Amino acid sequence: MRNLILAAASVAALALTGPVSAQSPIIIKFSHVVAPNTPKGLASEKFKELAEKYTGGKVKVEVYPNSQLYKDKEELEALQLGAVQMLAPSNAKFGPIGVKEFEVFDLPYILPDLATLRKVTDGPLGAKLLKLLDAKGMTGLAYWDNGFKVMSANKKLIKPEDYKGLKFRIQSSKVLEAQMRSLGSIPQVMAFSEVYQALQTGVVDGQENSWSNIYTQKMHEVQKYFTVTNHGYIGYIVVVNKKFWDGLPADIRTQLDKAMKEATAYGNGQSAKENDDALAEVKKSGKSEIITLTPEQDAAMRKAMEPVYKDVASRVGQPLIDEFLKETRGATN
Ligand code: LMR
Repeated sequence: MRNLILAAASVAALALTGPVSAQSPIIIKFSHVVAPNTPKGLASEKFKELAEKYTGGKVKVEVYPNSQLYKDKEELEALQLGAVQMLAPSNAKFGPIGVKEFEVFDLPYILPDLATLRKVTDGPLGAKLLKLLDAKGMTGLAYWDNGFKVMSANKKLIKPEDYKGLKFRIQSSKVLEAQMRSLGSIPQVMAFSEVYQALQTGVVDGQENSWSNIYTQKMHEVQKYFTVTNHGYIGYIVVVNKKFWDGLPADIRTQLDKAMKEATAYGNGQSAKENDDALAEVKKSGKSEIITLTPEQDAAMRKAMEPVYKDVASRVGQPLIDEFLKETRGATN
């Protein structure tokens, strides 16, 4: 795979540095792993529309959804090598390339709602986290929302004990690994594009995701029970290859920044509705049961996952966790 990525990267480099006629547009390949009708799919299409409009066609954005080009970890490598220019991987996927700090977003129940999330991402902490990407050959441009995660399996998941011994697909985040272990289940890292089949064939018993991802991947057709835990959050870091970005003419970069800002506002303004709509579709399909927890059951889940904060403190960094908590829970907590 690496050879393939390298070959694609050298073609991309040629396209950028070779003799270009005045008319040749600058191509931005934007690769992602989800369906077009998801928060990320729609935001990337909006960015394409605005980027092409504001640069008067000098930039062409090619959006490749559904892991058409690359699967989870491969896409970050492809970006670093310059085979694609732009991505929006979830916060949970930066660990394997050495940026484990974004896993702080994966801590169970760390974000009570999207407004609190926005406080973090729009503030100094959000900016500081994006800066960490420079050393990895990428520039962080924006935070895009998906939404809160629910749990699913073919058995009812109500109490922490119900998770015991079940195999759960997770994204490549050590925090998510610790989270599933805190419930006594067996975490299994797997690319997003492989989840449906793994659930269907019983390679894994369950998974966690947002409603928009669940619905567009048809997970509700192969999982009998969904529990509305809202225990964690999936959001995205929009990243661009740094060398490519820094090498753009300044006026073009300014227009692209503007397009990104507006696409971000658009996408984040409607992600909650997209997840609500997806939930409504899952309900309408009648294929699975949706379980809501009582306050007592919710409290038991929170308690069971509490040890995760200590388990991952040395990996994610206790000072970062404290800083995050100060933003999300207030200085008094
Ligand atoms: C997942 O792998 O479950 C998600 O990160 C997919 C995505 O990009 O929303």
